[in-house]
Amino acid sequence: MAVKLAHFSDIHLTARPLGWRARDAFNKRTAGWVNVQVLGRGKRFEHANDVTAALRAEFASRAFDQLVFSGDATALGFPSEMREAAARLGVTDPTQPPGIAVPGNHDLYLKRSVRDRLFEESFAPWQHGQRVRADAYPFARKVGHVWLIALNSAKPNFLFWDASGRVGAAQLQRLRELCATLDAGPRIVVSHYPLLMENHQPEPRWHRLRDWRAARDTAADCGVNLWLHGHRHRWYVLPRAANLPFSTICTGSSTQTKRWGYHDYTIDGHHLKGVRRVYDLPSGAFVDDDVFEFDLQHKV
Ligand SMILES: [Fe+2]
Ligand SMILES: [Fe+2]
Repeated sequence: MAVKLAHFSDIHLTARPLGWRARDAFNKRTAGWVNVQVLGRGKRFEHANDVTAALRAEFASRAFDQLVFSGDATALGFPSEMREAAARLGVTDPTQPPGIAVPGNHDLYLKRSVRDRLFEESFAPWQHGQRVRADAYPFARKVGHVWLIALNSAKPNFLFWDASGRVGAAQLQRLRELCATLDAGPRIVVSHYPLLMENHQPEPRWHRLRDWRAARDTAADCGVNLWLHGHRHRWYVLPRAANLPFSTICTGSSTQTKRWGYHDYTIDGHHLKGVRRVYDLPSGAFVDDDVFEFDLQHKV
């Protein structure tokens, strides 16, 4: 039996009012910077709510077994945005397929977001799976014959220009332990950050997964066959290479104007067929765009 997944990412929804509070500890300069970010972002994501509604129509009509969300639900990680994004995605809608979700760096913008587990709370129905400890990540969920492994690669950053991520040694150790408990079947990591860019090189320092080598090597040791991610807003598929022991797929931003799209994967045994569906502004619906396929292998 083939498994069908919907992979989407970086929807960057916001809410009005945001709910600024003094305890957010933003000074004027920060607020100004944030405003520029929000305003700049506002234009690029002006159709994001409509695109998200069209995405839900896809969830309802294309017989997916599982929805896969690789993070950046919000613009600034505010509780109001988190609730809004979860509601617009229908995470509690019992008529939708089940989901699996990891946070992006924008969802962990504020230290408070991490401390209060804002993402995990709003996306609680998409956080079910097997864990080795009480920690939220990683967790694994079997869908048909396929293992999906949610790995958190995002972290809060103090410097405003810092959009880097880190999985961390402790979580990688838990990943090893978790993988040792999983039975047969292709293993697919779901994480926010890429390991490598389109040219098989790491991202620039302030945008990259800082411990991408350790994450890559641990995933390879765990027999991972595929790494699904977002963070970069343009989509690309990376084949295996000398510095990449398994394929990776970036679905890009699902809601950013003109880059909008998501992936429909059919996994039959170890064969993956991907259909890229893109948003069509005049009709307000997704249409077929590209197709790709390959076998899910990993280094032997
Ligand atoms: Fe993003
Ligand atoms: Fe991101």
